[in-house]
Amino acid sequence: MTQVQTPFYLIDMAALRANMEKVARLRDASGAKALLALKCFATWSAFDFMRDYMDGTTSSSLFELRLGHEEFGKETHAYSVAWADHEIDEAISYSDKIIFNSLGQLDRFADKASGIARGLRLNPRFSTSGFDLADPARPFSRLGEWDIARLDAALDRISGVMIHYNCENGDFDLFDHQLSRIEAEFGDILHKLDWVSLGGGIHFTGDGYPLDKLADRLKAFQDKFSVQAYLEPGEASITKTATLEVSVLDIINNGKDVAIVDSSIEAHMLDLLIYRETAKLPQQGEHPYQIAGKTCLAGDIFGEARFDAPLQIGDRISIADAAGYTMVKKNWFNGVNMPSIAIRELDGTIRAVRSFPYADYKASLS
Ligand SMILES: Cc1ncc(COP(=O)(O)O)c(C=O)c1O
Repeated sequence: MTQVQTPFYLIDMAALRANMEKVARLRDASGAKALLALKCFATWSAFDFMRDYMDGTTSSSLFELRLGHEEFGKETHAYSVAWADHEIDEAISYSDKIIFNSLGQLDRFADKASGIARGLRLNPRFSTSGFDLADPARPFSRLGEWDIARLDAALDRISGVMIHYNCENGDFDLFDHQLSRIEAEFGDILHKLDWVSLGGGIHFTGDGYPLDKLADRLKAFQDKFSVQAYLEPGEASITKTATLEVSVLDIINNGKDVAIVDSSIEAHMLDLLIYRETAKLPQQGEHPYQIAGKTCLAGDIFGEARFDAPLQIGDRISIADAAGYTMVKKNWFNGVNMPSIAIRELDGTIRAVRSFPYADYKASLS
């Protein structure tokens, strides 16, 4: 067993390899390229391993872009909802392609970026997102252009578009149907391009996903429009590859048994709170507990769990699915110890790769 002090995120390289092998299979069978979306997972200690299976990275800010360029390499796509004047030269210096979110940003920066491939975000005005908060097609969405006249006005300066409209979509038929809509509605534009990124959100590493059908569909799309397709898998790349390891600090009973752990959903799994989901906790056994965090927030509750035996102070609990949109959102709320990062290597050994001492907390403010 490891000596790493809880709390820590634990990345399992065997699970990561299983996902990466699916990514590589899809690339080989379809000819599409796969870029890791750093907004979802930017734990760069894993990049040396992931690099062999993927084509590069895509980004949502200057810092993500720089990290992808420095630590992952290969092909680097730059995207931001809005670039600032003081960022643009540096952004271009790291990028193979830059994707502007609006015609206004393209107008402003197209000349500066003329030495690299330029693209525009296309918003098809539909998506698979069930959450308004994360729906790029929500009313008045600022994410991309959809008006054909405005897209046409960009064509003399762009060689591709990025269309992100899927969200944890594990339904191939829905993907197929929506891609056909895009082909029908935007086909005239797609025919004039060299590359099309279909964004992230396709859950193709999930159990039972028809990977071969997806590969054939992507191949047909590329052949029809003579374009290079890109995918930007975030969640699909790292789903089920990490846990958050915590220890029980106290057990109280206020009508139900509550185990307080040395972590916090607010600080260490914030995405679950935002989307009002509960953490994936052990569910086997006769002994139920609510698992709660140690911040002052009354609702700092990971969720309900069950165990084979009564919990004891010091017991370890493993919270599943702690990679995507989790480590990237950790924060210093309440000054609670930030989880370290550890890797379970393919041979089972556990290696601590990063801890966040008081100096990091202090340096995050002034
Ligand atoms: C433009 C873009 N690309 C890729 C992704 C990654 O999506 P996912 O993690 O669902 O694969 C996102 C997620 O919001 C995105 O906005």
